[in-house]
Amino acid sequence: MKKLIIGNWKLYVKTVDEGKKVLKAIEKKLPRGLKSEIVVCPPTALAVALRREYKSSRIAIGAQDIFWEKDGAHTGAVSPAHIGSSGIKYTLVGHSERRALGETDEEVAKKAVAAIASKLHPVICVGETERDADGRFFSVIEKSVKGSLSRIEPKDAGKFTIAYEPVWAIGKTEAASPRMAAEAILYIRKTIVDMWGREKAMKVRIIYGASVSAENAEGFAHEKAIQGLLPGRASVDAVEFTNIIRAFS
Ligand code: PGA
Repeated sequence: MKKLIIGNWKLYVKTVDEGKKVLKAIEKKLPRGLKSEIVVCPPTALAVALRREYKSSRIAIGAQDIFWEKDGAHTGAVSPAHIGSSGIKYTLVGHSERRALGETDEEVAKKAVAAIASKLHPVICVGETERDADGRFFSVIEKSVKGSLSRIEPKDAGKFTIAYEPVWAIGKTEAASPRMAAEAILYIRKTIVDMWGREKAMKVRIIYGASVSAENAEGFAHEKAIQGLLPGRASVDAVEFTNIIRAFS
């Protein structure tokens, strides 16, 4: 299974021109013989323009979110069909910054299954807001994984990725330790084994995100359970981002 390094640009990049500059700088510094899939997710308006105006065979463009309906009275919504027809192949769903605005596991499940139906590869974000010493956070993760995958068919196990993103570590100076991330990822894997059986569960790629940097990427790369990374801030800095990629090459 290929590793995935997917950058979440959030609102950090302001214009199409700025986006092009960042992409060019990343492309210039990309290591040869890439072993991972490389994706960046700009805000939707920029993602669509960049996909059209910046052709790269090495960096794919993703969206940060989608809505599940394809039609009807849903002002302001962007459907998977809109994203797919723009040539975009990936989308994040269930990012904690969307969940903080009220998005539920059930809504994330609808987005994920709508994405797969439109041949987009959703990266489904899950993670606890707090860690407690008794390990209760494991059941928080389990509930969110079960809820967010509830509408996906086991046969589609290879068509999406799960990003373990502990909310308490997002946008901070320190990430979760590679050990903590690997433990949570193994727990997510076990949850999917319970749901779908081992063979299907092994087809699901699971990555880590939250305060990933060039400095800590190597540590995550050494954990076998971690099949890629989802950096935010670090993904708009070409040097940082390509060093994160290098850690997985
Ligand atoms: P961060 O963001 O790397 O800036 O912590 C990660 C994310 O929110 O996906």
